[in-house]
Amino acid sequence: MSENFKEAFEKTRIAGSIAAGALDEVSKIIRPGISTDQIDKTCYEFIHDHKAYSAPLFYRGFPKSCCTSVNHVVCHGIPSDKILRNGDIMNVDVTAFKEGWHGDTSRMFKVGEVSIKAEKLIQTTYEAMMKAIKVVKDGVFLGDIGSEIQSHVESNGFSVVQDFCGHGIGKSFHLEPNVLHYGKKGTGEKIKSGMIFTIEPMINLGKFETKTLKDGWTAVTKDKSLSAQFEHTIGVTNDGYEIFTLPSSLTN
Ligand code: MF3
Ligand code: CO
Ligand code: CO
Repeated sequence: MSENFKEAFEKTRIAGSIAAGALDEVSKIIRPGISTDQIDKTCYEFIHDHKAYSAPLFYRGFPKSCCTSVNHVVCHGIPSDKILRNGDIMNVDVTAFKEGWHGDTSRMFKVGEVSIKAEKLIQTTYEAMMKAIKVVKDGVFLGDIGSEIQSHVESNGFSVVQDFCGHGIGKSFHLEPNVLHYGKKGTGEKIKSGMIFTIEPMINLGKFETKTLKDGWTAVTKDKSLSAQFEHTIGVTNDGYEIFTLPSSLTN
């Protein structure tokens, strides 16, 4: 791997671990009765304490430091005084910017006890992301990633959101290529060693269609069914991949 790749990987590793650490903090405070603003504050403070910036804050006018997407919200939910209730499921998405580089990650959180359907949706979404990550290495195609996700999700009876995708990431928050979460094996751009991008499938319990609310951000399922998402930032190596945004429970 060239020197340039080395700096990119080293810096993304740092930003990625701060983003993942913010989510580890969220997991400690999550319970029925807290507001999504409290989650935002936790993310902001953790990132700030690690001398990094929260990339979502003021990104294209986004007002908060993370996205909190509850139940039928697909992505880009805006933290507010909304109180979480027993049975809610929520994605929290954070992006840290440190020394010029970004790390972007999201996880699902369960508030109290959730339904079996919600559990299965969350489990399947996580499996789909991990199956896709595991095919990544120099020389495979972007379509191999999409196909892995789509086949796992659809065989479990869920649907893949098509309106949002993963993305290259580095000195900018969103870069080429678009990483679609559906598609056919052997199609699309070839993945090369040194590339850094996110895989962040959004999976719906019902139909795949989404719409954006009047706030210009909050994307919801059109049929109001539940939606789940996980996201990692990964780097491509000659023989595989590196995940830059693992939770500390998996790295310690
Ligand atoms: N973190 C999101 C992503 O995975 C983007 C959020 S943009 C924001 O790409 F402005 F809504 F924060
Ligand atoms: Co992303
Ligand atoms: Co994200």
